[in-house]
Amino acid sequence: MKILSVVGARPNFMKIAPFSHAIDKHNQENKDGKIKHILLHTGQHYDDTMSNSFFHDLNIPEPDINLGVGSGTHAEQVGNTMIAFEKVLHSEKPDWVIVVGDVNATLACSVTAKKEHIKVCHVEAGLRSRDLTMPEEINRMVTDRLSDLLLTPDKLSSYNLIAEGVPENQIVFVGNIMMDTLEANREKAGQLDILSILKESLMVGELLIKPSDYFALMTMHRPSNVDDHKIIGPIIDFLINKVSTRLPLVWPVHPRTVKQLKKFYFWNRLVKAKNIYLLNPIVYQQMLKLNMKARVMLTDSGGIQEECCVLGTPCLTLRWNTERPVTLKENGGASILVGNDVKKIEMEFNNILSENSNSLSYRPNLWDGKTAERCLSAILNFQVK
Ligand code: UD1
Repeated sequence: MKILSVVGARPNFMKIAPFSHAIDKHNQENKDGKIKHILLHTGQHYDDTMSNSFFHDLNIPEPDINLGVGSGTHAEQVGNTMIAFEKVLHSEKPDWVIVVGDVNATLACSVTAKKEHIKVCHVEAGLRSRDLTMPEEINRMVTDRLSDLLLTPDKLSSYNLIAEGVPENQIVFVGNIMMDTLEANREKAGQLDILSILKESLMVGELLIKPSDYFALMTMHRPSNVDDHKIIGPIIDFLINKVSTRLPLVWPVHPRTVKQLKKFYFWNRLVKAKNIYLLNPIVYQQMLKLNMKARVMLTDSGGIQEECCVLGTPCLTLRWNTERPVTLKENGGASILVGNDVKKIEMEFNNILSENSNSLSYRPNLWDGKTAERCLSAILNFQVK
């Protein structure tokens, strides 16, 4: 069997690492039934800090093929990926194309493979925010509509697919593959030194934080938060006036956010602010370590909501909706939806700081670190009905 796996952007790397390791394990144990695995990177993310460093950190083999599509509008990224990917499919002729998550690569490669009559498997299928202003929601819906095999991270996602008319025999509840990566890296991350992480990636200024200090951790990159100065402006005021006055704020800044902050002239204010530490994007294990020790997380990332849930880090999710309701506090998780309304963010932030301890960690069903093996078995056992 020949499997071609697709990655394109940062959140894909954590999902494909365990899958690639599961194939290696299968090949060691089945000398006669080896799987030929091709790893393809569309090149949507290309910086060392956004891409290459993850391959090393997560022990993923170098991609066999890199389409080098780079930055651009959504149509440019999707269109350029499809044109290049079609040629790869013609020469490689895989039995399966595996796509993960919800980025532009996921959409572009599932559509192209399906038109070439190649079976598509979507890992992390069935998540729905019901918010069509998010490009990721469109990517998820189209990919799920076309996939032959839909591997879901939780039962709710399976129900979403059934409600949309997907035949039940195409859906397999496998658990959350991100947790395989979390568990595989937890011990190593635990040994990292926080001050060394900060020193290594500090973009500007001086490090005055002490090892014993509590800190707030932040990530933000969604267009809905960073593309409008009327939305990001009050958030920056809040960070400077209400967060950094209470505890240090550590913020690895996504490149698109750096661009927007500079464009709106907020960057210099942040640089000059005391107790705010702006970092270059950091690698997975470093982020995991910071998350383990953070007093509170502020984020608009989907994956980080999930990691906070399992680590028990109180998480203010800077969104109005989530495709990952299983991570919400009312469902046992650590995340509270606060959107981008600064009053609401402040209220929940104060609530968290007034509580004595962090939330309890919560592990949804099958978020057990063994999802990749279940993904591979589902593919190997797949039968057209
Ligand atoms: C993409 C994904 C999003 C995911 C995010 C994580 C889609 C639709 N979006 O959004 O789901 O949460 O990745 O990071 O696929 N840039 C660099 N260096 C890089 C990559 C990007 O400087 O290595 C810059 C680009 O010039 C661009 C901006 O960052 O202007 C945004 O990059 P893009 O890949 O378009 O989407 P993301 O916002 O990162």
